[in-house]
Amino acid sequence: MSSSPAPLFRAKCVAVGSALPEKRLTNDDLEKMVETNSDWILSRTGIRERRIAEPGTPLSDLATPAAQQCLERAGVDASELDGIIIATITGDYVMPTTANVVQHKLGAHKAFAFDMLNACNGFVAAISTGASFIESGRAKKVLVLGGDIMSSIIDYTDRNTCILFGDGCGAVLLEAGEPDGPGIIDFELHSDGGNADLLSVPSSGSACPASVEAIENHLIYLTQSGKQVFSHAVRRMCEVAGSMLERNNLNNDDIDLLVPHQANQRIIEPVARRLGLPMDKVVVNIDRVANTTDGTIPLAIADAFADGQIADGTRLMLVAFGGGFSWGACYLTWGR
Ligand code: UT7
Repeated sequence: MSSSPAPLFRAKCVAVGSALPEKRLTNDDLEKMVETNSDWILSRTGIRERRIAEPGTPLSDLATPAAQQCLERAGVDASELDGIIIATITGDYVMPTTANVVQHKLGAHKAFAFDMLNACNGFVAAISTGASFIESGRAKKVLVLGGDIMSSIIDYTDRNTCILFGDGCGAVLLEAGEPDGPGIIDFELHSDGGNADLLSVPSSGSACPASVEAIENHLIYLTQSGKQVFSHAVRRMCEVAGSMLERNNLNNDDIDLLVPHQANQRIIEPVARRLGLPMDKVVVNIDRVANTTDGTIPLAIADAFADGQIADGTRLMLVAFGGGFSWGACYLTWGR
């Protein structure tokens, strides 16, 4: 990805909102479902529990309250929004997009609305897209959400995957600001389709439409080669975060908080080490919410905001890696 011309505006990140299902699925609960044990899960992933929606819950049931909380904190009415972008791999329907559903529920009548599918890198891709609308002057207020109902595509008889994922959604409001003021300073996105088969959901797209056979063969569920994905994730997240620092002439002192995709505590730690950041400068909530795919970064921002770790002027590095493969990073200064 090459650098872009100087933007007309900068996209300020002015507020965050989040929503999680009530139900907790603990490691002890999983011990009763598959052949696993609580200590293995905690030591190999850092996960203690995850939130799981009731079967049939649409993503919009989480996205709408996350959006409403975000708008309320920002003091912005939904009617002022120019756009809504939702990063997800588990939208309400194949079509229409969940962003359309949320647009209607919010009453955001003048907002364009679409979903983005970029797996675990989806939120970084979506916030970069929202920022681009603002930087070019085409939109003044864009609501960017990331979330998934991962329980809808997880095989709860497969111990390799069912321990890893949870449900949740977060939202960040972007607003146009001065080009040299706070906001999204830079982002970088990458992809490598050559490794697509290492992490995928084989059925319900056009290549393998939903069918009785697809269900019987468990093709409607997420599958991954964990070890291989792990090593690509560490390498790519280190690379892209390092590149963001380098091309902006920054060093690790310029990062107040690293907000990484929460796939595995053992992925997060080497990324922090490579950037020379102590763990108290890294947002980690994987123990409580597990991997929510598109939800991890906005939920982590929401948690850090609630803990008082994020205020106006806090400099954040977002970094993610996921299926595709796709990976990316975003460097920003929080607040109005
Ligand atoms: O968000 C998108 C990107 N996704 C990721 O970044 C995920 C990347 N991968 C990972 O996080 C890790 O590879 C896993 C957590 C999925 C697995 O950890 P691992 O250290 O790579 O374990 P492994 O797959 O190599 O398995 C080690 C052992 C095996 O037993 P043997 O062959 O050594 O006897 C597995 O059968 O652990 C066994 N095992 C389990 N044991 C208890 C695998 N899953 C489980 C389980 N409970 N749930």
